[in-house]
Amino acid sequence: MQSAATYDLSGRIAVLTGAAGGFGQAIRERLAASGATVVLWDLPAALARADLAAFPTHAADVTDPDSVATAAADVRRRYGRLDILINNAGIVGEVRPTWEVPLDEFNRIIDVNLKGVFHVCRALVPLMLESAAASGFGHIVNVASIQAKEGMAQAAAYSAAKAGVVALTKSLGKELATANIMVNAITPAASLTAMSVDAPKERLADILSRIPMRRFLEPAEVAAMVAWLCSSECTFSTGAVFDLSGGRATY
Ligand SMILES: NC(=O)c1ccc[n+]([C@@H]2O[C@H](COP(=O)([O-])OP(=O)(O)OC[C@H]3O[C@@H](n4cnc5c(N)ncnc54)[C@H](O)[C@@H]3O)[C@@H](O)[C@H]2O)c1
Repeated sequence: MQSAATYDLSGRIAVLTGAAGGFGQAIRERLAASGATVVLWDLPAALARADLAAFPTHAADVTDPDSVATAAADVRRRYGRLDILINNAGIVGEVRPTWEVPLDEFNRIIDVNLKGVFHVCRALVPLMLESAAASGFGHIVNVASIQAKEGMAQAAAYSAAKAGVVALTKSLGKELATANIMVNAITPAASLTAMSVDAPKERLADILSRIPMRRFLEPAEVAAMVAWLCSSECTFSTGAVFDLSGGRATY
């Protein structure tokens, strides 16, 4: 891959959810390399890792509004501002035909992937509004999925949750359009992170066969798009959906 473009994010404060995971690693390193202070949010067990020691962290379960509110209060107390929010926490859940999905499992997948984005935006957008009013700068990136656009057999809850994230992004983008905060979603195809690497070989082969570029997405490619979406180069895109699917997306 060619050398990465650099954006100046020095002095910017960013919150990244799902920060200990595969995309989280690539995004936190890329934003930190651009000078941002990246506050890592994830489940407590996920944050208890030596390689995260260089970053500020706060345990936050995105399904729990109280946990999210506590973490948001910590950002306000420590920094008094927030410039960038990346809603990246997610789970794929069990792979099953729709009619065989237990209610608890359906709810769990919606809770993390869709309601989690709502809880985090609800807790942090007020602080971002204050910051953007003073700085003229604010970016939210929501990590959806190609499955939001296409649906995927045996992943109805995940596909529906991610489609909800796309719609939430469009609504929030319109609400914040005159507040100097841009809100965009990305729709990645499959990448071999912890989330997908253990999927059955036949399912991975099926997914790969749908990607015209005939390879899986690299987390660094996600980070590259996120970095641009969080930069001052991104000035007239909001409520938009950015494809990362190797040609799979048809719209
Ligand atoms: N890997 C892929 O193929 C792929 C494709 C499209 C979209 N995505 C999306 O990208 C995002 C990142 O996925 P990844 O590939 O890095 O997976 P990952 O499993 O490596 O990381 C997900 C992270 O989210 C955290 N998380 C899970 N539940 C949480 C909760 N309740 N509260 C807070 N954090 C929680 C996990 O602890 C983990 O660190 C997810 O939203 C996922 O749906 C992934």
